[in-house]
Amino acid sequence: MQLPAGITEIPLGENGLRGLQIETPLCSALLGLQGAQLLQFQASGKKPLLWLSEDAVFKAGKSARGGIPLCFPWFGSPAAEDKPAHGFARHRLWRLADARRDGDIVTLELELQDDSSTHLLWPHAFLARQTLVLGQDIRITLCVENRDKVPFTFTFAQHSYFPTSDISRTRVDGLEGRPYFDALQDWKILESEKDGIRFKAETDRVYEGASGHYRIVDEATGHSIVIASDDCKSAIVWNPWTEKNARMGDMGQDGWRRMLCVESGNTGRDAVTLAAGEQRCFTLQLSGD
Ligand code: BG6
Repeated sequence: MQLPAGITEIPLGENGLRGLQIETPLCSALLGLQGAQLLQFQASGKKPLLWLSEDAVFKAGKSARGGIPLCFPWFGSPAAEDKPAHGFARHRLWRLADARRDGDIVTLELELQDDSSTHLLWPHAFLARQTLVLGQDIRITLCVENRDKVPFTFTFAQHSYFPTSDISRTRVDGLEGRPYFDALQDWKILESEKDGIRFKAETDRVYEGASGHYRIVDEATGHSIVIASDDCKSAIVWNPWTEKNARMGDMGQDGWRRMLCVESGNTGRDAVTLAAGEQRCFTLQLSGD
């Protein structure tokens, strides 16, 4: 495919993976074709909107630590232990179906279809399409089409990693007083803080039936990041803190201090069922200052 001006295909790491480097007057960004994963994004004149670990590994079948990996067709740990956490979409090579530029806005469309290897993990025929619109903001739309003869149910999350200058001075607004499942306390249902979420230890929470609209406030610098989706009803708020950071191996020594995940998708009671032939799309908008 002939790539428009400002989009260049480049090697990612030393293991044969490829990416697209985007440079326009509006933004600079990096997308990995494995997982259709946006890895970096910075609007001109603004701070980076995504966090990418300094120790991220670029390797086939491993999702790079940072940016926006897509968890699909399931979020979290599957019931069967031999299946990958967060689904298989983030580990697969997606097909670049289109790359275009309208003025300085870049649109990338990537597709993933079922094949015999995905059938071993999830026995359904599907087409997933991620459309990324990159201007001064990020707009990502995931469309899933059921190409099977029977209905199927899936869960997903855009597993967004955001930067912050100091996690202990970071607040997430938009989930006040809402119930959440605490993954660190055997999925106990607890109630969110009334004045915004703050981080003092490892945090791993799943909110269902949430609004889809949140703000991350970096209280040390005054910067904020706005997350907006009318289609994603679940939010996952995660920071590994010190010990898990050390166990993970690809977070960078101090990564936990400089990042947080506020993921947007539909999981648990927000899971999506599509009839045979049906398609649904889910849009997420991310912006910062
Ligand atoms: C989060 C989960 O969504 O992803 C955490 O809530 C998990 O429990 C984290 O540790 C990272 O997962 P992975 O598979 O990318 O290491």
